Amino acid sequence: MTEAGATPSLAGGVAVVTGAGRGLGREVAIALAARGINVVLAGRTAADLEATARLIRAEAGAEAVAVQTDVRIPCDVAALRAVTEREFGPAGVLVNAAGIFGPITAFGDSPVDEWIATQEVNLFGPFLTCREFVPKMLAAGWGRIVNVSSAGAILPPVPFDSAYATSKAALNRLTRQLAIELEGTGVTANAIHPGSLKTDMWAEIHSKVTALGEAAGGLGDWVRLVEATGGDSLAEAVAVVIRLIEAPAAVNGEFHWPQGGHQEPVASW
Ligand SMILES: NC(=O)c1ccc[n+]([C@@H]2O[C@H](COP(=O)([O-])OP(=O)(O)OC[C@H]3O[C@@H](n4cnc5c(N)ncnc54)[C@H](OP(=O)(O)O)[C@@H]3O)[C@@H](O)[C@H]2O)c1
Repeated sequence: MTEAGATPSLAGGVAVVTGAGRGLGREVAIALAARGINVVLAGRTAADLEATARLIRAEAGAEAVAVQTDVRIPCDVAALRAVTEREFGPAGVLVNAAGIFGPITAFGDSPVDEWIATQEVNLFGPFLTCREFVPKMLAAGWGRIVNVSSAGAILPPVPFDSAYATSKAALNRLTRQLAIELEGTGVTANAIHPGSLKTDMWAEIHSKVTALGEAAGGLGDWVRLVEATGGDSLAEAVAVVIRLIEAPAAVNGEFHWPQGGHQEPVASW
């Protein structure tokens, strides 16, 4: 029997990854599958999820199931858990990588629906997934939750970033609130900054910031840094996630940064 909180062999385990259709979520899903973990891929775009599943079967020779899910919708998230348990059994690992950047506008100009949608995806989504998947982790005496947050929640504010930075700051707090209740159970919840990644999210920010021109300020500096350098390594972002999954239960309620990224880690909380 596994000692409470000790990391069991991950092979044969079950992981759910949101945002698995592209970007960081896809890479995390492939890396988990390569470790012999059965992976459930969640996101809104079925074709992207199926493409990730094909990559996993080809590269890792492992099993993956795609479940079209909008993490904002409680019954979608409930269905995600039901399909996970039907296909593979209860999940021991949950990686919340789904996210949107939302409006890049002055505070008062923010379209209300877009600002609220940013909180729904980046904050309510992880609330709903954690709420669904934690009980079976507690019953098993082992579980690992990694919430993909952002340095934008911690570094000094830059203009036009109120929706995203607020959502990620709240996600950090949600992670800590959950973690304190998980102490001593063998289940952990941690948050990460994955680095500055040249993904579709970056491309969307790039095009909005370019339209703003000089007024974009700090966000403009960030997109140009990523453009000039190619950004941080997706492999290192994945490594941070894997390290937290493999870490002992004492690593709980923490914020982790990638090694060697363009943004120096600062005191997280
Ligand atoms: N890129 C960076 O530099 C950077 C920096 C710091 C933090 N992050 C964080 O890292 C995570 C991954 O970002 P990324 O750069 O890989 O972004 P990405 O390439 O844009 O991927 C985002 C993923 O989230 C999914 N998603 C969006 N809305 C969703 C919803 N309502 N329900 C379910 N899935 C949804 C998308 O799939 P569908 O659209 O098909 O649903 C997509 O798979 C995000 O949480 C982001 O905030 C990124």
